Amino acid sequence: MRLESLHIDNFRCIEFFDAELAPGVNCLVGDNASGKTSFLEAIYVLGRGESFRQARLGQTIRHGADTLTLRTRLADGDGGRHRIGCHISRSSQRFKLDDQADTRRFDLINMLPLQHIDPNVHRLLEQGPKYRRHFLDWGVFHVEHAFFPAWRRYRRALKQRNRALRAHQPKHIVIAWDAELVQQGELIDACRRRYLEHIKHRLPDTARQLVGDDALAFSYHPGWRGDGGFGQALARGLEQDLRAGFTQQGPHRADTRISIASMQARDWVSRGQQKLLTAALLLAQADILQSTRRVQPVLLLDDMAAELGGVYRETLAREVERLGVQCFVTFLDSKLIPQSLRDTRMFHVKHGKITPS
Ligand SMILES: Nc1ncnc2c1ncn2[C@@H]1O[C@H](COP(=O)(O)OP(=O)(O)O)[C@@H](O)[C@H]1O
Ligand SMILES: [Mg+2]
Repeated sequence: MRLESLHIDNFRCIEFFDAELAPGVNCLVGDNASGKTSFLEAIYVLGRGESFRQARLGQTIRHGADTLTLRTRLADGDGGRHRIGCHISRSSQRFKLDDQADTRRFDLINMLPLQHIDPNVHRLLEQGPKYRRHFLDWGVFHVEHAFFPAWRRYRRALKQRNRALRAHQPKHIVIAWDAELVQQGELIDACRRRYLEHIKHRLPDTARQLVGDDALAFSYHPGWRGDGGFGQALARGLEQDLRAGFTQQGPHRADTRISIASMQARDWVSRGQQKLLTAALLLAQADILQSTRRVQPVLLLDDMAAELGGVYRETLAREVERLGVQCFVTFLDSKLIPQSLRDTRMFHVKHGKITPS
């Protein structure tokens, strides 16, 4: 998928923007607080129905304005065209995909798969399992069609079971949810495992380009203990769950770890290397999406140069180019733009004004 054009009215510091976009790499250059991240955020809102920095979309309306509007025209690889628009006021938000009146977030995500690499992307390796699950499930969602319905049903059953546990309901009410939880939970687990196999095949090449020849290892923890299935673990953990007041095991506690040279990656690699390894993961996912579903994701690479030396920047840029997907990359200074991206579409960003050059 590619964004052919983008229209912005009153999004954060951007009062107005309307331009055609390059099908490949688009670079945005500007000082701090000029509006670069806001530009990426606007695209993100169109593709995800939410922001990556604000819980409430109403707060992204430009100060002094009452509403904001975002619009894009998309081209898929097969000559098809689509439109996404959104209109947000402080009390309402409306998204529209083509002429579909009741567009849901699911439809947006499906239509415009976005990969967002921000300067804090190292969190993926450093912080808790939540980020890694999120990362993994982005790919699983796009590649495994059984995943999302199972995940939705699982979440619903988990919520009910936890509610029963919190309210100290009798056991039979708590375990009434177990069959559904186990059925959907094992489906989720199977989708994740299949997807991880894809990653294991794709990642090493990408990572080798970026981080060097060090061997990579993966470990996957499904979120429950023991070698039996989820059902057994759930039954064994019942007394503990009753005491804790919530469900302590299940796919909602899954984790994936990536190690370099048989050590936990986060224990020794530098910030720059962490960033590259994470970028490699995201690029590998983009690659998988292209080859399994013939869907091209769009990359949003914020502050690409942060924490990356010149050589690493060049390598990352080459990998991005090699992938051939549409990409929006921001830089503080044009001197930081890698050589291989110098001939791409350039936008200058200043006080919320974004001008093609
Ligand atoms: N709702 C808003 N209305 C107007 N300006 C905003 C709003 N939200 C944030 N800003 C301002 O937008 C500016 C641009 O921020 P940002 O896009 O993060 O810049 P950059 O990524 O170029 O450093 C900041 O100065 C911020 O204060
Ligand atoms: Mg920024």
